[in-house]
Amino acid sequence: MSEHDDLFAAMMASAGFTPPKLPDVAPEPEALEAAVRRSRYWSSLHTSELRVGSSAHRHEVCRMFRETFNPYRPSVIAWPKLSPDALQRVISLPIWDIAVHTEGRARLRFASYAATLNFPEVRDAVMLNAWEEHRHKEVLSKLVMAYGIALRPEPAYRVPRNPEWMYLVTGYCECIDSFFAFGLFEIARNSGLFPVELAETFEPVMQEECRHILLFANLVAWQRASLPWWRRIAFELRIAAAWVYIAWERLILARSMKTNGMGTGQDSNFTMTSAQAVAPVEIGIRDLMTICLQENERRFAGYDARFVRPTTVPMLARLALFFTRPWAKNVEKVSSDERSPAGG
Ligand SMILES: [Fe+2]
Ligand SMILES: [Fe+2]
Repeated sequence: MSEHDDLFAAMMASAGFTPPKLPDVAPEPEALEAAVRRSRYWSSLHTSELRVGSSAHRHEVCRMFRETFNPYRPSVIAWPKLSPDALQRVISLPIWDIAVHTEGRARLRFASYAATLNFPEVRDAVMLNAWEEHRHKEVLSKLVMAYGIALRPEPAYRVPRNPEWMYLVTGYCECIDSFFAFGLFEIARNSGLFPVELAETFEPVMQEECRHILLFANLVAWQRASLPWWRRIAFELRIAAAWVYIAWERLILARSMKTNGMGTGQDSNFTMTSAQAVAPVEIGIRDLMTICLQENERRFAGYDARFVRPTTVPMLARLALFFTRPWAKNVEKVSSDERSPAGG
């Protein structure tokens, strides 16, 4: 165990959180399928209105998060054997370092926020979220070992001094990253460039990210609705500041990727670079946005409709599609002109 793992374990223990028990052996395919299904579909038995901000809302959201938990164990995952071409494609995906660092940071940030919470059910839900980030990191470390992917040294992860602030920043970052990851994952799954078994191995991780941002969106909505107006203004300002901070951080990241040898200047457009790496043909930004929106819808469709969904990133994607419509028509016109026989 690294010192970061020890730190994370100590944080869970001091918050009185017991990590879930996992089966020692790989489950049978039927059990695996049932667990995936349970993690995707959940409806509350609460029959009356589930008012956002009410204690029933808070209780049901936490219950959803507990009951949709998928008990897979990273160490028993059977990594499929890859053809030399597929192996090369997996190794050269530009995501592994960023993914490992993101999970390592997220687990500490969620855990430190969970430790500050007064409602035991909310504290346990956010701590379980942190523990699942820790498990994502473990899944990635097993994959990296199985396929011989070389990673850069991990940075020193710091425990945040302001846990609520970092919770907001990390939660909204997950809303952005998951939205694009859903689409990229679907493109990779349908590309024929990677074996189906590899996509299936990652499916629970993807759905977990969907549960994470569903939990986040609902806890933020619950807090927002339950605050008196003067504290709500301060909360809204913190949320606005979190978005500005994320935009600034992403700008810095894009610039540093350009200059620190993680790739060419192309990597400042990380999402599009990733899309080209997992797609069999060149994919346009509008197609990518459309797939992301469809996948976002599909992944959330199985959860109680009375829960709040993350809305900002899908709304921005819809706006981007709306404002680039003329450009799309031009592209379609150019390509149909190109298809017309000369002089016809
Ligand atoms: Fe994660
Ligand atoms: Fe997550």
